[in-house]
Amino acid sequence: MTVKTSPKVKKRQSAPSKAPSVKRVSSKTAPDKVRAEDYAIWVGDTEKFLKKLPKEPLFDLIVSSPPYNIGKAYEKKNDLKQYMEWQKRIIDELVPRLKPNGSLCWQIGNFVDNGQIVPLDIEFGPIFKGHGLQMRNRIIWHFGHGLHTQRRFSGRYEVVLWYTKTDDYVFNLDAVRVPAKYPGKKHFKGPKAGELSGNPMGKNPEDVWANLDDVWSIPNVKANHVEKTLHPCQFPVGLIERLVLALTNKGDLVFDPFAGVCSAGVAAAIKKRRFWGCELSAEYAEVGIQRLKEAISGKALYRPHDKPLYDHTQSNLSKFPDDWLTKKGEQK
Ligand SMILES: C[S@@+](CC[C@H](N)C(=O)[O-])C[C@H]1O[C@@H](n2cnc3c(N)ncnc32)[C@H](O)[C@@H]1O
Repeated sequence: MTVKTSPKVKKRQSAPSKAPSVKRVSSKTAPDKVRAEDYAIWVGDTEKFLKKLPKEPLFDLIVSSPPYNIGKAYEKKNDLKQYMEWQKRIIDELVPRLKPNGSLCWQIGNFVDNGQIVPLDIEFGPIFKGHGLQMRNRIIWHFGHGLHTQRRFSGRYEVVLWYTKTDDYVFNLDAVRVPAKYPGKKHFKGPKAGELSGNPMGKNPEDVWANLDDVWSIPNVKANHVEKTLHPCQFPVGLIERLVLALTNKGDLVFDPFAGVCSAGVAAAIKKRRFWGCELSAEYAEVGIQRLKEAISGKALYRPHDKPLYDHTQSNLSKFPDDWLTKKGEQK
C-alpha cells in the first residue's frame, strides 16, 4: 500500500479577521429570534423548535445523524414503528424549511433488534420519497474500527442518503475532487491518443467512501481521533466537510436538527458557511458551542476529508506474531 500525498492537507485553519459570535438559544426563546444569527444552537427538543419556526425555506443544507434507536446514552430505545413515526414528524417539519435548490443529507446506520439488523435507510426511503425529494446518492461510508460481533459479520459501514428538492441544485464537484489513482494515465486511442486522460484537479470521490487503499477514506471518531469529545457518536468533521463543500456555497445556512457536539457546525464554520443546530443535551450543546467558536476563530483541530490514509502496514502492530503462524496452521 502506498501513502498518498495531497497539497490540500492541513490541520489548522487560518483565522478570519473578525469572528462572528455563536448564539446559545434556550428552549424558552422563540425560534424566530434566531433568524438574524449566523451561528446558533437551540438547546432543546428539535421538534418543538421546528414547529415554532416560520414554515418557509431557510436552509441550504440540512445534514444530520439522528439517534438510531439503539439505546445509546442520549436516547430511549423505542420500537421501530414508534421511532419511525417520530422521525417522520421531524422530516415533515424539515422539508418545507429546505430551499428549492438545497440538499438534505440523512446519515444513518442499522437498528439492531434481538441480533437482527434493520438497515434504517430502507425504512427512511419512503418518508423522503413521500415528500417528493429526489435521491442523488446513497453514499456508503465505510470505516475501519468498531466492535466485533460473534454471530454475524462485524458492521463497518453506514450510509448517507442525499436528497435534493428540485433538479436545480448546488453540486461543486471541483471543490471535493481527490487525487486520482493513476494521474499519469493517457488516452490510448482516438484523436487524443497519448494525451493525459484525467483531470488535473483530481477525480470524483465516488459514492463509496471507504477505508481501502485506492480511495480516500474518512475514519470514524474513536478514542485517539483528534476530534474526539465526550460524545459517544460524533460524526467526523471530514464527512460533513465534503458534503458542505460540494452541496453549499460560502455564506449558505447549514442546519443539523440533532447537532450533538456540532461536528456539522465545525465543518460549516471552517468552510465559511453559517450554521444552526438543535441539541437536547445541554452538556453536548456546550461542547458544541465551544467547538463552533474554535472553528469560527480558526482554531479548530480536525481531520480534513482529503487527508491521506495512515499506512497501517508500517506499524509494528501489523506484523503477524510468530507463534500465531503455528496456531493458524493447526486450525486449517
Ligand atoms: C447521533 S447523535 C448526533 C451526533 C452529532 N452528529 C455529532 O457529531 O456530534 C444524535 C444526537 O441527537 C440528540 N437528540 C436526541 N433526541 C433529540 C431531540 N428530541 N431533539 C434534539 N436533539 C436530540 C442526542 O442528544 C444526540 O446528541
